[in-house]
Amino acid sequence: MKIVRRKSDLRALTRGWRLAGESIGVVPTMGALHDGHLSLAAAACKRADRVIVTLFVNPKQFNNPEDLEKYPRTEDSDARKLAPYDVDVLYIPDGAEMYPDGFATTISVSGVSEGLCGATRPGHFDGVATVVAKLLRQTEADFAFFGEKDYQQVQVVRRVAEDLDLDCEIVPCPTVREESGLALSSRNLRLDDAARQKASIIYATLSAAARAIAAGQEVERVLDQARAELLDHGLGPIDYLEMRRERDLAPVQDTSAPARLFVAVWLDGVRLIDNLGID
Ligand code: PAF
Repeated sequence: MKIVRRKSDLRALTRGWRLAGESIGVVPTMGALHDGHLSLAAAACKRADRVIVTLFVNPKQFNNPEDLEKYPRTEDSDARKLAPYDVDVLYIPDGAEMYPDGFATTISVSGVSEGLCGATRPGHFDGVATVVAKLLRQTEADFAFFGEKDYQQVQVVRRVAEDLDLDCEIVPCPTVREESGLALSSRNLRLDDAARQKASIIYATLSAAARAIAAGQEVERVLDQARAELLDHGLGPIDYLEMRRERDLAPVQDTSAPARLFVAVWLDGVRLIDNLGID
């Protein structure tokens, strides 16, 4: 696996691959890699001839400077974790490479980026959309792999790829969970053991609520109970716990079209998100 820091060096490689008729898969990350990211790398290696994992802690998607500062930076161990996979390039641009002096463009997606995390993290999805569009261009990827833990993000990048004719298939991959059910996230590193244990109630609560809704119970009542359950277990505040239509994330009150539960809740100063489809 080559470590590449400049987009011109990356382009020299991707041009060669393209001339040879090889397909390219990309796994965009901000580092602090866990098994969720590694499952994306594995999926990319299975699907594409060449695989690029990108590592860039994107300042434009942090609406809270403290969050950006605290974001774990673990480049060496990230590279070691990728070693067993058939990854060709770990691309690690710095801020100046990604956003050179004079950079002035923002990509803003309406609809799917409104509500949920879009409501509580203003500007977050503009930052994601902008950097992902750049990464898809820089890597010339045919396929880009994203975890469904960030389901809203997947919908946002799908729109970007389609609306900007980026000619890249967005491939969603299932959320990877700890045995306790807690969705893997780089933020879990900021929880101590007791908090991590406590956090497993998020998935248990979502699962129970999804079952109750699937069984025909009244949605708002189920969601109220789920909110109370989280607060009773010492989590909170809750940014949102809502049911949305999968296709376009519109708020819905029934499951006549495939729907999903979405939650963002704080625990010990760490904001955790998860989501679950309703059968
Ligand atoms: O999911 C992430 O880690 C980031 O939002 C992404 C897609 C790498 C863009 O910075």
